[in-house]
Parts: sequence; C-alpha cells; structure tokens
Amino acid sequence: MNLTTTESIRTLRQLQLDSAKTQTERNKLGQFATPTALAADILKYAKTLLPTDQKIRFLDPALGTGAFYSALLQQFSLSQIVEAIAYEIDPHYGDEAIELWRDTPLQLNIADFTKAVPPNSDNTKANLLICNPPYVRHHHLSRVEKLRLQRVTEQTAGIKLSQLASLYCHFLCISDAWMATDGLAGWLIPTGLMDVNYGQPIKDYLLNRVTLLRIHCFDPVDVQFEDALVSSAVVWFKKALPPANHAVEFTYGGSLTEPKMSVMMSLESLRGTAKWTKFGLVSGRVSSQEQPLKLKDLFTIKRGLATGANDFFVLTPEQISAYQLPSEFLQPVLPSPRLLSVDEIEADGLGNPILVHQLFLLSCDLPPDVVKAKYPSLWEYLQMGVGQGICDRYLCKHRSPWYAQEKRPPSPFLCTYMGRQDTGRGRPFRFILNHSRATATNVYLMLYPKPALAKVLLEKPKLLKEVWSALDRISDEALMGEGRVYGGGLYKLEPRELGNALVKKTCELL
Ligand SMILES: C[S@@+](CC[C@H](N)C(=O)[O-])C[C@H]1O[C@@H](n2cnc3c(N)ncnc32)[C@H](O)[C@@H]1O
Repeated sequence: MNLTTTESIRTLRQLQLDSAKTQTERNKLGQFATPTALAADILKYAKTLLPTDQKIRFLDPALGTGAFYSALLQQFSLSQIVEAIAYEIDPHYGDEAIELWRDTPLQLNIADFTKAVPPNSDNTKANLLICNPPYVRHHHLSRVEKLRLQRVTEQTAGIKLSQLASLYCHFLCISDAWMATDGLAGWLIPTGLMDVNYGQPIKDYLLNRVTLLRIHCFDPVDVQFEDALVSSAVVWFKKALPPANHAVEFTYGGSLTEPKMSVMMSLESLRGTAKWTKFGLVSGRVSSQEQPLKLKDLFTIKRGLATGANDFFVLTPEQISAYQLPSEFLQPVLPSPRLLSVDEIEADGLGNPILVHQLFLLSCDLPPDVVKAKYPSLWEYLQMGVGQGICDRYLCKHRSPWYAQEKRPPSPFLCTYMGRQDTGRGRPFRFILNHSRATATNVYLMLYPKPALAKVLLEKPKLLKEVWSALDRISDEALMGEGRVYGGGLYKLEPRELGNALVKKTCELL
C-alpha cells in the first residue's frame, strides 16, 4: 500500500463526504477533519516522546476517515503497531474508513465511543491515544444525553463535569479508562477549555492525575494548518502521576515540532492560576506574545545577607592570611556594586569570582568550645570581635552562634538593591549574571530561579544569558516605579517590589 497515495485518496473522500452533509448536520456531530499536515506534525511529535522500540497500541476515539491513523502508518512501521482501535459514530464516514483501511490492522467500531466498554486489563489498553474529539457544544446535546454523559464520566473517571461541558470534555475524561499506565495522549482541543469555568475539573485532572507534558497553541494568523485551528491547542500528557517539581512546556505558534515560542511553567504556578491563557502563549492572540510575566513568577527573590559587621566578617585574602583563618569557614562574597566593574562575573576553577576586589565571608556554625579546641587561630580572631563588642550588636546577638551567617547560596542573577540615576551609568539598578559560587550581602537582591526555570537552565545553561538580557531590558522607569525614592534621588528596591516588576516574554524561556 502506498501510504502517500492512500492519504491523497482519503482527503479527497473526506471532502466529498463533508460536502454531502449540511453545516448544521456536521456541527451536531463535530465533524471537522484534521488537516493532513497537522495530523503528520502531531504523530511526528508523538514519536519523539516514545521509546524507539515501543510497541504501539493505538486508539482514536473519534476517527472520522482516519487523518491520525493515516499519519500513524506513515510514522511507525507496521511491525511496531500491535493494535489500532478506533470509534466513529457516523457510518457516513465510518464505512468509507473501513473501506480505505481494509488491508491494515485498524479495528474500527462504528459506534458511540461514550457508550463503549473500556478494556479491563492494563496490557490491552492503548499506549498511544491521539484524538480530535467532536467539539459539540452542550446546547446541541439533549438534557437526557447531558445527564447520561455526566453519569458515564463520573463513573468511569470519577470526574464530575458541569452540564455546560462540551462533548469533547467527556471524551477526554472517559478515555482515561482506555489508557494503559504510562501511555501517551495527544488531544486537539479548543484553547477556551483552559479558561472556562467548566474546564476546571479537566485542568485538575491534567495537573493531579496525569503528567501534563506540553500544551501547544496555534497562532491564528499562521495559516499553515488552515482556519480550522483558529483557537486550537494540542494537549500532551502521560498517564502517570506527576513527578515532584514537574514543569509543563507551553508553546505557541509555528508547529509542534518547531514552535515559535516556549515557556516552562511549574505545576505549582498552574495550580494557582485560574486562566492558563494568561501565560500569553495560550490565548491565540498574537499580541499575547507581548504579555508580560512578573519576576516573582520566575524567581524567589531574597535580599543578600546582613552580617551586622561587614568590617569584621568580610575579609580580603591578605587579612585571611594575616589571621590564618581556615578556608572551610570562608566563602567568596561579591564586593559592593561600587567596586564591581563588570556585570558578568566569571569564575576560576574553584568557583571563585575572577574580580579585582576579592572578598570572602567568614561564617562558622560550630559552637565556641569546638572552635576553641580545634581552630585556635579562628578562635583568636573571634575573641577580637568579642573585644570590639561585635558579638553584642543587634544582628550578631540574635544569631546562634553569633559568628554564623544567614544561609544565602550563590544565585545566578542579582540585582543591585539601591542606586542613583545620576551616576556615570545613568541607571539606578543593575542586573548581574553570576557564574561563580560567590554569595552576596544586602546591597544586592538575589534571584533564585523557581523549579521550572531552574530545570531548563540546568539543561540548557546557554539560556542563562538570554534570561539575563531579558532582565536587563526591564526599563529603569518600571523598576523605579516599583521601588521607593529617598532624599537625594536614591532609589531602593525591596525583594517584593522587584518581584512585581514585569518582564517581557521575548526570549525562548520567558
Ligand atoms: C473533529 S472530527 C475528527 C475526525 C478525525 N479524527 C480527524 O481528525 O480528522 C470528530 C469525529 O468524531 C465523530 N463523533 C462524534 N460523536 C462521536 C461519538 N459519540 N463517538 C464516536 N465518534 C463520534 C464525528 O462523526 C467526527 O467524525
């Protein structure tokens, strides 16, 4: 069988069958076929998510004439396809599909999928489900039918959908019982689902009962998949509980295999957001590409540590060797912005910053008797601090022991805590990219990427620079607007205020 020829015949038959029906008839059963190029893109992408030697048990609960099945045959070898099950309610399309795919493994049931009985053993369930379900709005469903669907969905999936839910919502939920553990599903659905109230139980399902992998939204002005997709998205998930710190990929525009934009969102942030279109990538409006994110969506922001006595705790290499302080209690720390001549801090082989002004922070968690017994030179230095009354200063007194600092691991991004506009640079705040293990004192704000962003940066460290330049593009006015101004034109920015600053999603990540 020549698959390309069969696909051409299929699309031709599809057109003929569509034109033999009225628009109203097609609306009632949600009969809008998936364009060939899109079906191919979907199956091509599915293949990237599956192990190469995976035996496929395919299911399409709403086959039509088989756009996805056709693409499946083109992407996977027949020896890989162990089973292919499909449902189609309307013999107008179903009979044609049976004829077309007669010499292939397809087992097509001309029946209502929502009334079919799912397999009861996990190894006969589908591990690849691809579906463009019927988008039948609830007002096309009779009251009796709505109640039946509600009951079936609740019984099969334990999900209670509202009476306002469209037929495709029931398809998605009911299909859970047809999927094998760890199976992959790709659903072509309207983006609206991500915002409407009746979509909430489905979002709960996607967030809590399966591992939501990706949501891709098509760009309505991008005509490559024709206008059928004006506001469609493909939702990908795996039937397995989500791992800890799981992040979901939201992509927009282009194709599934080559999206124009991509952003990772943690499950945590999705749980806290009623409207997922808010992420801009999902709303189907081009202008949404410009929709900004708040820095607090991406970072945990903390003020650098307050030592209570920088002169005593922040030391130069010369001071360290003069007092013979042990290296295990010293961590590199950034000099104040005034003495920091670069905005990107490189590190040497030990992770120490390569800077003109090298400084180290003294911090020790050991109790005094242990320090005294084991580290006599440190003990002597601390006794000097006692003599100068440093241990009685407010911050030191409230720490235990008084010479242990707050924990501030190094952060890849920092922002200066305060600044003036009338400096040589003409900008009150600076964003620093830190490749070293240096921590920072409270003249900086430290930006720790949240899990979703951290994961991407770990996988693709070259994106650090893109994030940094996105931060750098935040206008001075925006930062000054969030912060406070003090006498003499001194601006300060607290962590919470920086968290509210908006960053434009102009790079691949944001
Ligand atoms: C959006 S079309 C998709 C067809 C095909 N999979 C494609 O992508 O081109 C939805 C199909 O579901 C069928 N359908 C509607 N209600 C159904 C039901 N309850 N059970 C099975 N199929 C149904 C329609 O007749 C239609 O062919």
